[in-house]
Amino acid sequence: MTIIAAQSEHATEYEDYKATSGQYDETRKRVGVAFITEALKSVGPMDEHALLDAGCGTGTYIDAFKDRVRSVGGVDLSQGMLDQAELKFRDDTTITLKQGSLVELPCENGEFDAATCNEVVYHLASDEKLNRFDGIQEFAHEAFRVLRPVGVFVLNTSSPEQQQDGFWWASLIPEAISNLEKRFPEIETRSEMLVKAGFEIGRTEVMKGEALQGDDYLDPKDPLSSNWRNGDSAWSQVEAEELSSAMEHGH
Ligand SMILES: C[S@@+](CC[C@H](N)C(=O)[O-])C[C@H]1O[C@@H](n2cnc3c(N)ncnc32)[C@H](O)[C@@H]1O
Repeated sequence: MTIIAAQSEHATEYEDYKATSGQYDETRKRVGVAFITEALKSVGPMDEHALLDAGCGTGTYIDAFKDRVRSVGGVDLSQGMLDQAELKFRDDTTITLKQGSLVELPCENGEFDAATCNEVVYHLASDEKLNRFDGIQEFAHEAFRVLRPVGVFVLNTSSPEQQQDGFWWASLIPEAISNLEKRFPEIETRSEMLVKAGFEIGRTEVMKGEALQGDDYLDPKDPLSSNWRNGDSAWSQVEAEELSSAMEHGH
């Protein structure tokens, strides 16, 4: 494995991934592996692909694809998350991990056959109301730049409505969910940004029967654990007052 560190001046991080990186894998499952596999196969034999995992975190998705493709490049802003990935893949010479930002990918033009980005782009949205998706647009251009012509890109994210309707706990923490929701563009807006960057839109699909939290999703005791809350983008941002009200209502 090769590790390359490059500080980006465009680094932004609204969750403290350094603090949560050690427990991150306990709180998340990978969703959409079959969908990504199908997409990778659509542009040639998978075992010949150089794959980019943009915002790779602790390497959850790298783990799923590393033995099925020629090589994997992982880029993430958080050195803490990359440190966890490094522990897993240190003996694998086909994996390169780089510290950097999606809006300024530390990668060559046309370096990859395929790219994936899972549950990351809401970090690129700013809290400002105006132009809040500029970062996602910049990333779309970057993803296009680092892919070879006729490469494939799988973007795994949610719509704002899914933030409201997709989690049983949304009514317990309405303020945090409403803030988080603003970080997710509508599906049509997201598609327009990809087209603007040069992509043709293939398929958009809702992953049914797969939850980010796996079987834990239905456990009503989960929000009582601070480890679990820190691994969730909405719960980790809940203010003290809303948290205590949620705990009261949840009983
Ligand atoms: C919810 S985690 C998802 C990690 C991984 N893709 C997964 O599905 O397990 C979000 C990741 O995005 C990374 N991230 C946030 N902002 C970023 C940026 N501007 N550039 C690169 N990575 C970023 C965080 O450090 C974190 O590892």
